[in-house]
Amino acid sequence: MFTAGGSWAAELEGAAALLDAEAGKRVWSQTAGCIRCHGWSGDGTPEGPGFAAGADLRKVVLDPTALKEIIRCGVPGTGMPSFSRNAYGTVACFGMTAAQVGQQKPPVGEVSLTDTQVDNLAAYLLAKVMNRGAVTKEVCVDYYGPTNAFCNRY
Ligand code: HEC
Repeated sequence: MFTAGGSWAAELEGAAALLDAEAGKRVWSQTAGCIRCHGWSGDGTPEGPGFAAGADLRKVVLDPTALKEIIRCGVPGTGMPSFSRNAYGTVACFGMTAAQVGQQKPPVGEVSLTDTQVDNLAAYLLAKVMNRGAVTKEVCVDYYGPTNAFCNRY
């Protein structure tokens, strides 16, 4: 029926990926509140006083599997929380049980994310944040939209 089936499928896939990333942006900024420590752009500038500065994710290169493991499990021995309630239990974390991670067990995040939320969040970060370099006006406008005066500072 569709002779150009391949490209049609590819277009659908591209559209689906965009929707996933849009949903992931909401997890980033709202549901999980990653921006409180990492900043809206992910550059590690916390959004308010009292939050630990997170890593500058714009400089970090991670593959999807490693990124999702960090989201679910946190980073042992640091302030990076785990966002799965089952981390170090039924959710595998760096090959360590709760007993093995012991005192290094990261803080528990305020929410426990579903697999879909973790997938969408990773899609967003890989598309817009991770390894994307310095924040520019384009990055800001992409995040806040063209009418937001906040981006005039760039
Ligand atoms: C309470 C503050 C806080 C919150 C909330 C937080 N992080 Fe972090 N995050 C950190 C800190 C601190 C580090 C640095 C850990 C270290 O010293 O290596 C970190 C590290 C990371 C890393 C590893 C970077 C690397 O160098 O490999 C990733 C990826 C990450 N955070 C993603 C997220 C995502 C996604 C969310 C939301 C689901 C989130 N963080 C929420 C504080 C936070």
